[in-house]
Amino acid sequence: MWLICSSIGRKLLMSVTGVFLILFLTFHCVMNLVVIFSPEGYDAICKFLGANWYALAGTAVLAGGFLLHILLAFLLYWQNLKARGKAAYAVTAKPKEVEWASQNMLALGITVAAFLLLHFWNFWAKMQLVEILHGFGMEFGDVSKAADGVYHIRNTFACPVTAALYLVGLGALWFHLTHGFWSALQTIGISNQVWFKRWRCIGNTYVTLVILGFAVVVVTFFVQSLCNGTCCAL
Ligand code: HEM
Repeated sequence: MWLICSSIGRKLLMSVTGVFLILFLTFHCVMNLVVIFSPEGYDAICKFLGANWYALAGTAVLAGGFLLHILLAFLLYWQNLKARGKAAYAVTAKPKEVEWASQNMLALGITVAAFLLLHFWNFWAKMQLVEILHGFGMEFGDVSKAADGVYHIRNTFACPVTAALYLVGLGALWFHLTHGFWSALQTIGISNQVWFKRWRCIGNTYVTLVILGFAVVVVTFFVQSLCNGTCCAL
């Protein structure tokens, strides 16, 4: 109860869900990179993570983590706004030393959430959702392609607009995560004056590698579609 009722509890919960989401993204990025080296291997993973009970349980935990993180972000923002009262409007000049991402975490988070909606439409709605509905006897989309991750990746990134939107979304995610990483560790209490700079460096490197991992897949499949003439703009 303390976690939800006190502001430090809410911030702690937000940091813990943030770390959990970064760990999920690391797994997701490594899984996606398999598609470049072994499309068959990637499809085998997609089949394994289809609409089985363990995949559905994982999706439910993940959705809970995302929802809690987003809800707490709005709650903390609202709380800060209320605490500052009219002073929120009196201060217009922002101190230089405060990084851009830290002042725009909510806007960056909203951009990432918008990107996620696009992502769910492109993948989840055509894969796991199709399988779930099929299980209930409802036909939606093409169930024969529901576990064919490579097919959906090829189709999605053969469209230059979608590929570009993914790169923009990944850019916003980079800013959100690089700030979120050290901020979460500071809230959790494993950062101090000495470790602050080190965590920042580790966080920036780690997040850059994860984002590059995602971007490599987008660019590789877009370039492939240009080379084999399947790009939807040709
Ligand atoms: C190159 C970029 C990406 C590709 C190719 C990709 C691909 C996929 C695929 C194939 C699925 C599985 C759909 C299913 O079986 O239902 C999926 C699910 C998902 N992706 Fe991505 N993804 C990418 C980037 C991202 C990013 C950047 C995020 C987070 C900001 C993200 C978050 C998710 C989530 C939350 C799910 C749902 C997982 C679940 O159902 O348990 N993905 N993605």
